Parts: sequence; structure tokens; C-alpha cells
Amino acid sequence: MCGIVAVVGKNQAYKYVLEGLKRLEYRGYDSSGIAYFSEKKLNHVKSVGKLNKLIKKISLLDIEPLNKSSLAMGHTRWATHGKVDLNNTHPIISNNKVAVVHNGIIENYKFLKNNLLLDGYAFNSLTDTEVIPHMFYKYLKAGKSFLESGRLILKLLEGAFAFLAISNDNKNEIFVSRKTSPLVIGMGDGFHVVGSDAQSISHMVDKVIYLEDGDYALISDLEVKIFNEKDENVNRRTINVNIDHGLISKEGYRHFMEKEIFEQPSVLINTISSLINENNEIVLDLEKIGIQINKGITICAAGTSYYAAMVGKYWIEKLSGISVNVDLASEYRYRSPVTSSFSSMLVISQSGESIDTLMAMREGKKSNLKTCAIVNVDQSTIDREADHTIYTRVGPEIGVASTKSFTSQLIVLLMLALKLAKKLNKINMKQYLKFVDDIKVLPSTLSKILKLNDKVIDVSQKIKNAKNVLFLGRGNLYPIALEGALKLKEISYIHAEGFAAGEMKHGPIALIEEDLPVIMFLTSDGLEDKAISNLQEAISRGANTILISDKKCINKSQFFTSKIEIPSFDKDFNSIFAPIFMAIPAQLLAYHIARERGTDVDQPRNLAKSVTVE
Ligand code: M6R
Repeated sequence: MCGIVAVVGKNQAYKYVLEGLKRLEYRGYDSSGIAYFSEKKLNHVKSVGKLNKLIKKISLLDIEPLNKSSLAMGHTRWATHGKVDLNNTHPIISNNKVAVVHNGIIENYKFLKNNLLLDGYAFNSLTDTEVIPHMFYKYLKAGKSFLESGRLILKLLEGAFAFLAISNDNKNEIFVSRKTSPLVIGMGDGFHVVGSDAQSISHMVDKVIYLEDGDYALISDLEVKIFNEKDENVNRRTINVNIDHGLISKEGYRHFMEKEIFEQPSVLINTISSLINENNEIVLDLEKIGIQINKGITICAAGTSYYAAMVGKYWIEKLSGISVNVDLASEYRYRSPVTSSFSSMLVISQSGESIDTLMAMREGKKSNLKTCAIVNVDQSTIDREADHTIYTRVGPEIGVASTKSFTSQLIVLLMLALKLAKKLNKINMKQYLKFVDDIKVLPSTLSKILKLNDKVIDVSQKIKNAKNVLFLGRGNLYPIALEGALKLKEISYIHAEGFAAGEMKHGPIALIEEDLPVIMFLTSDGLEDKAISNLQEAISRGANTILISDKKCINKSQFFTSKIEIPSFDKDFNSIFAPIFMAIPAQLLAYHIARERGTDVDQPRNLAKSVTVE
């Protein structure tokens, strides 16, 4: 989703801005631009497509004035209002005097635009953003100060956004504001910077201030003045960021997604070791999470994190008997949920910035639920607003398709289920310790599953030209069928759907035709014979059936076209762990099919890493 970086008070400011924009590339974007002052004029350069096109355009400019310019502001745009073209690319300029970059959505822009049109302002873009620079121009022309103009504009804007403005009259100042969309200010020595996240500015500073919701600020080379929603001058805490300097590398892998799939064994060690202490205790604080044993838990999340929540419901209810409600965050916030039977809300988000999940959490707070976030990104908005946070600690996930964050979320949820089961005496000490031991060896277990890579490549060759693919699963593997389908569709652009195997005959079976790939996840959980019989109709209609299963189930039927056997690591394959194991071949399959089809695996079309608009 859109990204913002700006620098004031540093020569060659544009170079630092471009580096910052590179660090935001993983969010997804379709055009980019920068604005800067040189030779007393406001200049801008914009380009459609990848950042290297913008960099190339800039390299053709007269470099001397550019190098002397100490204020620059850049943006990567993910189109919402108006198609991907130069007019709609930020910065958006008014009368060669004011430039604005903006993330999020101005919900009442049509109303504001109509008023500006009546005042004689011409609009060059179809963006909602353009009302902001025009309003700045209008107020500045009327004699208002830069700060006062920004303040007046904020009173008029509705929506969730972050924006930066610069003006020809104030060449050493940036007006900055945030409402819901994140923004962070970096504190340098004789200069200041602004970015959409700390990673985007960590090549310049290691001290940052996170603006709070509704804050706005006027930033110059030497000063940062912050105001809250009530226009009071406020101080916000400066914190040290400990983020790896330099760009995160693919370390020899072809794509970040491939790297992130293969690093799961090593990074999940961090997740596990942060939650199990030397006495084999799971160090989750049920009180801080807000769990009351006579009440249920409600979980909200989006996309892959939502599928993790679905598995979590299965585990928590099965192991502890505590009732769990799972909602899509985008639905929860608008559906007037009845919360009296719940004490706590869990929200799950890799980025900690998904707007739907954030808003669902705020709804939960309004209903007096204790909120606990399971997030990967430290200091993200959801992390900072939740009553309590559990970190998944798998490091930056750059590929748009979630992989390692999914398995880490599953591990946290499984540990929560076990902690509850132990507290409620639903499992005995021996069973509990066996689970803990199995979790501790999960990383090495996943390393062995990753060795199935070649087998998955063989299967992907047979599916890569398909137009449609179905994924099936039952019980705790139903969410894995949904996740397998999401992974495949988002990076390969093949239409894919996930179904609960038992639902086949209620409709989806109509889709079955000769050679349609149908992928089934199966584990020995007592439902395997039913699941196989659900598939029999597909087999007899000539579907290309692929079974991904454990040793006990793999020979249940000889009619599958292909089989991928998940190795047994124990005398008894514990079907509780199956979602974590089966996620790996699902990820590999999507990855290899997309790679074969030559799509942009890490930044698939139309998608963004953090979805910060509704
Ligand atoms: O950062 P979040 O976990 O809140 O993101 C939620 C979804 O946007 C995300 O999982 C999305 O579905 C991924 N592209 C899936 O691979």
C-alpha cells in the first residue's frame, strides 16, 4: 500500500528519500514520485511502474541543484481513486506552490472538491488527495500561516489517512499529519525525516517518534512541533529503533517468498523460544490476554491471518473447551456484534497495520473487551493500541504473500490452546509436556517437510496451466484448504477456491470436470474415510486429484493422480499439528506454480503488503 518518506535539513535529501522508498517497496505500489526544492522552485518527478523508472528519470536531471536540495518528499502510490497514470501519481501539486503526498482515503473528498470547483480550482487528477494541496493554496493565499492552513484543513477532512505537505513559501518545513494511517518521525542531528514505518527511515536515524492518532506536526531541520487533535502542543516519547540497516536481501533465493518459506525452521525458533521457558512452561499471561475461563474469546483478522484464527478456534475449543468466535475484521466492525459472552478479543496481524483489523480492535475496546494482538511488527499501530501484545518474532516479511507469519501465528495459537487446556485440567501433565516437546522440535520437523520441495515441483508442473484449482480439507485442515487457495490465486493469478470437503456435494461438485486439479489435505483425525468418500465423485469424473497427507492416510485410495506424503516424525502422527505441517506444501505449491508462470511473485499485481485503506 502507499508509502511516504521525507527528509528536511540534509543535502542530497532526494537520495535518502529514494532509499527509503525502496525499503517500502514490499508494500506494493504502481507508481512513484518525489517533490523537492531547488533553485528556489518547487520541482517534482513522477513515474509509473517500478521505482527504478523514477530513479532513471531523476538521473537525467541536472544533478548539482538536486544535490544541494535539502528537502525532499517521496511517495509510492497504490491506486485507489483514479487509474495508474502520471496525473494521479503523488506528489499532487497545486499552482506550482504546494505539494502533497498522501496515504489512505479522504472519504468526503467529493464534497470538498465541489466547493473548490466553485472557487475556480481546476483538478488535474482523479485522486481524493488533490483537495488537500488546493486547500493549502487557498488558505496560504488568504494569508494564513502554513501551520494554521494545515490545522484548518484537518478540521475539514474525514477518513483514515496520513499526509505530508510542503509549500514554496516555507522551504524548510514539512507539515505532517496522521489519522489512523501510521507515520513516524525520525530525529537526526541537524535534520529530521518522516516515514510510513521505522524501517523506511532507519538508514538515516535510530531515534524515532510515533505520531499518535489525530496528531499533526510542523517539522523543520532543527525543530519538530507536535500537536494533538485538540490543537495542544504535545511531547511524544522518543524511542530507539533497533532495525537492521541496509536493505534486507534475498540471500541467494530467487524471491523473498522463497527465502521466507525456507527460513521458517530458523525463524520459528524465535517464536517458540520466546514463549517457552527453561521449565517448559508456556509463558503466555492469560490475565493480560484478558481470558476469563467462564467466558469466550473472539478473534478478528484478515486474509491469511484470518485463516490462522480459524485453526486457532479449532485448537482452543478442542483442547480447552473455551468457546471461540472468529470474524473477518472487515465484517466485525460493521455487524453490531453481541459481546456479552466474551471477555477478550484477539486480533491477529502480521503487519500490525491492517486497517480492518485495527478498526475491529477499536470496536472491541469500545465494547469493553480486553484486546490482545498477535503481531509480527513491533511498534506497529495495532501493537501500540492493543492492551497486550504477543509477538511472532519472525523478522520482516517482504513477500506480499504471507508464509512464515502464518506458521508463526499458528504456533502462538497452539500454545495458547495448550496453556488454557492445562489451566482447565483438560490435558494432564504428561500430555502437556509431550506437546511442548513436539513444539520445540517443530523447526527441525519443518526442515524435513521442506525436503519435499522436489516432489512439489513435480506436482506444480502438472497444475501450472490450469484455469481453476480446488482445495479441500476437513476439520483443522479446512482453513489450510482456504489458505492454499488464497496463496495460489494471489501470486499465480489462477482462479482457486478452498472448500470444506463435506461441502462438495452441496454445490462445488458442479465445477468438477475432466482434468480439473483438486488438491486434498488429509490427516488421520478420524475423518479421513469420510473425506476420501467426499472426493470419490471428483475422482470418478476425471478430476486431476492430488493428495497431501500423512503416512497413515496416503494409501487410503489408489485413485489419486499424485500424492505428497508428509513424513511421520513420531510413532503417532499427531493430527493436531497437521495445519502447521500442511501449510508448507501449500506454500511451496503456490510458489512454484507462480514462478513457472513468470508472475511477479513478491509483488503480485493489485496487491499490497499492508492493507491500510478500507
Ligand atoms: O498484516 P496482516 O496479517 O493484517 O494482513 C492481512 C492480510 O492482508 C494478508 O494476510 C493477506 O491476505 C496476504 N496477502 C496473504 O498472503
